Amino acid sequence: MSERPILATGGAGQLASALAAASPLVRVVGRPGFDFDRPDSIAATFRAVQPGLVVNAAAYTAVDAAETDADAAFRANRDGPAILADLCAEAGVPIVHISTDYVFDGNKGAAYTEADPVAPTGVYGASKLAGEQAVLASGARAAILRTSWVHSHTGKNFVRTMLTLGKTRDRLTVVADQQGCPTAAADLADAVLIVAARMADGWRDEYAGVFHAAGTGDTTWFGLAQAVFEDAAAQGWNVPSIAPIATADWPTPARRPADSRLDCTRLADVFGVRLPHWRQGLRRTTAAIFAAGGI
Ligand SMILES: NC(=O)c1ccc[n+]([C@@H]2O[C@H](COP(=O)([O-])OP(=O)(O)OC[C@H]3O[C@@H](n4cnc5c(N)ncnc54)[C@H](OP(=O)(O)O)[C@@H]3O)[C@@H](O)[C@H]2O)c1
Repeated sequence: MSERPILATGGAGQLASALAAASPLVRVVGRPGFDFDRPDSIAATFRAVQPGLVVNAAAYTAVDAAETDADAAFRANRDGPAILADLCAEAGVPIVHISTDYVFDGNKGAAYTEADPVAPTGVYGASKLAGEQAVLASGARAAILRTSWVHSHTGKNFVRTMLTLGKTRDRLTVVADQQGCPTAAADLADAVLIVAARMADGWRDEYAGVFHAAGTGDTTWFGLAQAVFEDAAAQGWNVPSIAPIATADWPTPARRPADSRLDCTRLADVFGVRLPHWRQGLRRTTAAIFAAGGI
């Protein structure tokens, strides 16, 4: 693999941080120096880093806020990635662009493959889909990795939210009628780096296009919460009781897909990569949280 750095966007975000922790080749850039809202900062960063490969892990990820902040979501999730991918195309540098299960409406009733039709239910999903299309249209050697339900020992995510709430509440209610594939940022980073190494070693046309890259197996938010508190109880924490509720009992500004399970067979077939089971991935995150002294 080229010894030129891997430029990873996303600052202190979950995936960018996990990439930096996983490889000394990774050079993370983020705001304020690298900002999709300042297009000139994208080219300036690209020139300064001279990357051998780019991983775009930066995104406007506030799913509910995006509903009333569409311009910012599209700037970060479509326009910025388009500029970055154009720079990659011009320089002959491959790009791994991260996308989301929220490009689907969740009505299939089975795990989604890359061939399934997309139909985002909200602004965030629509902006990420537009980003995928812009990156693919750039002519860069691009692999789009759609992931889902990402958690990490740092940042803002469901696992940390559950542990934080569990410290002060005896009882929690958690949505039990949305299913998906939880993914540890550290597991995703490992997968991205294998994909990146293969792409940098020698380009093959089968590397281009969309891939699903999520934790193996699936569960509901309620199932994930139960597992979080299993891990916490094993550490001797007092854990709350949790009760299942329906999505209808937890209204949010953005509608989320009820079933966004991802079939990750193509990633395994083309790159030989399969992410660990979600339960194992969760243990990786909770172990890192407990090792750091908890929440
Ligand atoms: N989190 C999930 O559950 C999930 C699920 C499916 C797919 N994904 C995708 O996975 C990728 C990684 O997500 P993540 O969980 O690591 O997200 P994250 O923790 O929210 O981090 C996103 C990063 O993007 C940066 N960013 C936001 N707007 C920006 C802009 N205009 N210019 C430059 N940087 C900007 C943020 O910077 P600041 O720190 O300055 O705000 C943040 O560091 C994203 O493509 C996301 O869409 C995530």
